[in-house]
Amino acid sequence: MTVQPDNPELGQPPSGPCHVAIIMDGNGRWAQARGRPRLFGHHAGARRVRDIVGACPELGVKYLTIFAFSTENWKRTQTEVAGLMTLFRRYIMKEMQEFVKANVRVRFIGDRPRLDEKLRGLMDEAERMTNQCTGTNLTIALNYGGRDEVSRATKRLAQDVAVGRLDPKDVDEETLPKYLDTYVLPDPDLVIRTSGEARISNFLLWQSAYSEYEFIDTLWPDFTKEVFSKLLSGYGARERRFGAVSV
Ligand code: FPP
Repeated sequence: MTVQPDNPELGQPPSGPCHVAIIMDGNGRWAQARGRPRLFGHHAGARRVRDIVGACPELGVKYLTIFAFSTENWKRTQTEVAGLMTLFRRYIMKEMQEFVKANVRVRFIGDRPRLDEKLRGLMDEAERMTNQCTGTNLTIALNYGGRDEVSRATKRLAQDVAVGRLDPKDVDEETLPKYLDTYVLPDPDLVIRTSGEARISNFLLWQSAYSEYEFIDTLWPDFTKEVFSKLLSGYGARERRFGAVSV
């Protein structure tokens, strides 16, 4: 992408991140601090998603990828999982027209078969309705896990080898990502995690090999456009070398 130097050894002047990925953590604690149920925090989190997606054009973020539900999140209580699924359905239904109006192209990554049929239908519809949009590229990770993604990709790759469509000699760092859910996306330049936890929790494992990371204490429902903008400015001051040395 634009921020990745053509020749990593020469480097380029730093610029803003083109692709930002966010682990939106802290909804539960935000709600608990207010004596409210966890779902109250998720609803506040969904409003933040709206604000942050809306801020991307003026902040120069062309790709935004957000972690909404992981393959591990099924371990939460049935009430929380069901509440989140309802929230996702309502969010997509409500925002679909807004996305088209705002020229936002929506994509989903993750393993879809485990999601309920109605939600899958809405996801397909949102992708279809926005597939001509040329503004912000919003990718929502739903029932997503990095290891799961790599396993599914490897299975498809192995099937292609088995039927003779792919020669094992051609399997390399260029070929494998074509089988990932993110095959049309650039790698993230910056990965942000809110709420003070410094882990990546199975998010974009392959894709974030050279990403910059920001772990911040702010809980997701408090993540404003101003906080976002400050992190992006901080990114601009860093030098990314992609394994090369400074000159
Ligand atoms: C992690 O916070 C958050 C989630 C598992 C859900 C993320 C969902 C949203 C932000 C809601 C809306 C999203 C969309 C796309 C409409 P947590 O509950 O683990 O917080 P905690 O660590 O404080 O318990």
